[in-house]
Amino acid sequence: MYSLPFILLAAALAKAAPTSTEQYQETISTADVSKIGTQEDVFPYLAGAAPHFDYPLSYGIPKDVPEQCTLQQVQLFARHGERYPTKKVGSKILETYYKMTNYSSGLSGSLSFIDDDYEFFLPDSKNFEELTTWKNTLDPINPYTGEWDAQKHAREFMHQYGELLENTTSLPIFTSNSKRVHDTAKYFGAALGDKFNVSLQIIDEDPSSGANTLTPIKSCTVYNESEKADVYSKFSSKYLANIADRLNSENKGLNMTKSDATHLFSWCAFEINVKGYSNMCDVFTPEELAYYAYNDDMTSYYYHGPGNSLGPTVGGVNFNASLQLLKQHDQLDNKVWLSFTHDTNIVNYLGAIGIFDPGHAMPVDYVPIKEHIYHKSWMVPQGARIYTQVYQCSNQSYVRYVANDGVIPIEKCSSGPGFSCELNNFVDYAESRLNATNYVSDCKINTTSNQTSLTFYWDYEHTTYNASLIKK
Ligand SMILES: *[C@@H]1O[C@H](CO)[C@@H](O)[C@H](O)[C@H]1NC(C)=O
Ligand SMILES: *[C@@H]1O[C@H](CO)[C@@H](O)[C@H](O)[C@H]1NC(C)=O
Ligand SMILES: *[C@@H]1O[C@H](CO)[C@@H](O)[C@H](O)[C@H]1NC(C)=O
Ligand SMILES: *[C@@H]1O[C@H](CO)[C@@H](O)[C@H](O)[C@H]1NC(C)=O
Ligand SMILES: *[C@@H]1O[C@H](CO)[C@@H](O)[C@H](O)[C@H]1NC(C)=O
Ligand SMILES: *[C@@H]1O[C@H](CO)[C@@H](O)[C@H](O)[C@H]1NC(C)=O
Ligand SMILES: *[C@@H]1O[C@H](CO)[C@@H](O)[C@H](O)[C@H]1NC(C)=O
Ligand SMILES: *[C@@H]1O[C@H](CO)[C@@H](O)[C@H](O)[C@H]1NC(C)=O
Ligand SMILES: *[C@@H]1O[C@H](CO)[C@@H](O)[C@H](O)[C@H]1NC(C)=O
Ligand SMILES: *[C@@H]1O[C@H](CO)[C@@H](O)[C@H](O)[C@H]1NC(C)=O
Ligand SMILES: *[C@@H]1O[C@H](CO)[C@@H](O)[C@H](O)[C@H]1NC(C)=O
Repeated sequence: MYSLPFILLAAALAKAAPTSTEQYQETISTADVSKIGTQEDVFPYLAGAAPHFDYPLSYGIPKDVPEQCTLQQVQLFARHGERYPTKKVGSKILETYYKMTNYSSGLSGSLSFIDDDYEFFLPDSKNFEELTTWKNTLDPINPYTGEWDAQKHAREFMHQYGELLENTTSLPIFTSNSKRVHDTAKYFGAALGDKFNVSLQIIDEDPSSGANTLTPIKSCTVYNESEKADVYSKFSSKYLANIADRLNSENKGLNMTKSDATHLFSWCAFEINVKGYSNMCDVFTPEELAYYAYNDDMTSYYYHGPGNSLGPTVGGVNFNASLQLLKQHDQLDNKVWLSFTHDTNIVNYLGAIGIFDPGHAMPVDYVPIKEHIYHKSWMVPQGARIYTQVYQCSNQSYVRYVANDGVIPIEKCSSGPGFSCELNNFVDYAESRLNATNYVSDCKINTTSNQTSLTFYWDYEHTTYNASLIKK
């Protein structure tokens, strides 16, 4: 996907950046140049931890609005960009790393690169939880920093939706107060140019925000991620045992476990975010990647998706707000609604909408390759972008979803232009889903907050949303 000219451009930009280029001189090697950009085929199998990629399946429906139609409103629900591992995952990767560096016999087989001239990608835990940027990347020609992704996304956004901003003098961008989410929104906003007087509206993730938040799962203190543990834990972990066994047979006494094998997948994904490629990704067979990916899709479905009794209920807070914005598209001055949050919240939101809901419990005794539509990493890779388009064709308005540049129709309501759903039909569809849930009572919101609905899209001009940033 990234050509050599692109890489050279990225390198030139990094050079132009006011960071110290000297620190990089030693780390650029011909190995980097020959490897960066060659591992994009594995991104869809890395549980949404690897860099952004376009939705891999489409029926060829263009994401641009059909020619005879005019855009009326667009909403974006986006994930932060490429990042370092969290503290939790980072410390797990370190444990596995130490096991290897403390192995005194010298590593052979697919791990032997660790003993060769290898620079570990997490030299400093201060970067855990952070977006990757031109400043903290380990390689100046890394084309996958979260900062650059947000900037490119903003330019693509302007190209496709800029016309909606022609009369805009003041543009709010809504972000949770997680630092990496905020930083993504900040880089996105800055790359829109200085025409729009962008303001960041920083919405608190704290449970005291109740329903008035981009992270409603946090206020739902009764939410139980592992309520279906007895179901998803039945999925076979043999693929992990196979990886551990293979590495142990190449290295007698290394004692890799199934947990270590899991950490190696995280290592592979996050190392690409940090330096553009990872030798660790070569450790896995394609089948192992497929099992790992399905395990993540399936557990996501039961943790945060339609497989959790409160997944769609929690996501309904944001879906409901989106519905209200849609209904008011011709009354509201603002035609563009941009929100940034985490993958979990987007998974909840998509569960409420239902476009990726398989409609039956996901199997745990086999991988349903032919009928699998719930690919978590395809929904929420780093830098995920879920667009809701509202457009008018003749004298009707239509609604459509575009996830990571792929048009995802609501199958039973898709006979409008470009596989869209006529607005009144969409409202019925959305209400019938939302009416089946009750966030405030099911989540016992009154025990944590008096905020029982999402108001920030409507009251941000009169209410201060400037929560302090949190590094998580
Ligand atoms: C060996 O492991 C310990 C932690 O268990 C770690 O502190 C130490 O740095 C490791 N040694 C090397 C050479 O990596
Ligand atoms: C901008 O304002 C002009 C003049 O009122 C109007 O014709 C046009 O539709 C507006 N554009 C948008 C995107 O609202
Ligand atoms: C820019 O936006 C801020 C926050 O919404 C607002 O207070 C200010 O008046 C705006 N400035 C201009 C020049 O529109
Ligand atoms: C979540 O559900 C699981 C499975 O039913 C149960 O074992 C666990 O105790 C629950 N956790 C909480 C905090 O209620
Ligand atoms: C692997 O496990 C064996 C047996 O428990 C132990 O003797 C050995 O020290 C372990 N090796 C490492 C590298 O931890
Ligand atoms: C949906 O939004 C409306 C308008 O803001 C609000 O009155 C209602 O309580 C919300 N419903 C849900 C289920 O969040
Ligand atoms: C517009 O809507 C009216 C009725 O609502 C209908 O009679 C007319 O044919 C529609 N015009 C077009 C161009 O579709
Ligand atoms: C959903 O509930 C609202 C408020 O009770 C009601 O007006 C609407 O007709 C219901 N919609 C559907 C499709 O059931
Ligand atoms: C919350 O509401 C429920 C009923 O909806 C009520 O039983 C409970 O006492 C309330 N709790 C608080 C802390 O207000
Ligand atoms: C919620 O409570 C706080 C103080 O505890 C109060 O300032 C605020 O106005 C209340 N908000 C609502 C929506 O009732
Ligand atoms: C948010 O704004 C209020 C009012 O301007 C101010 O008192 C408060 O210190 C600000 N909080 C943060 C975290 O910036």
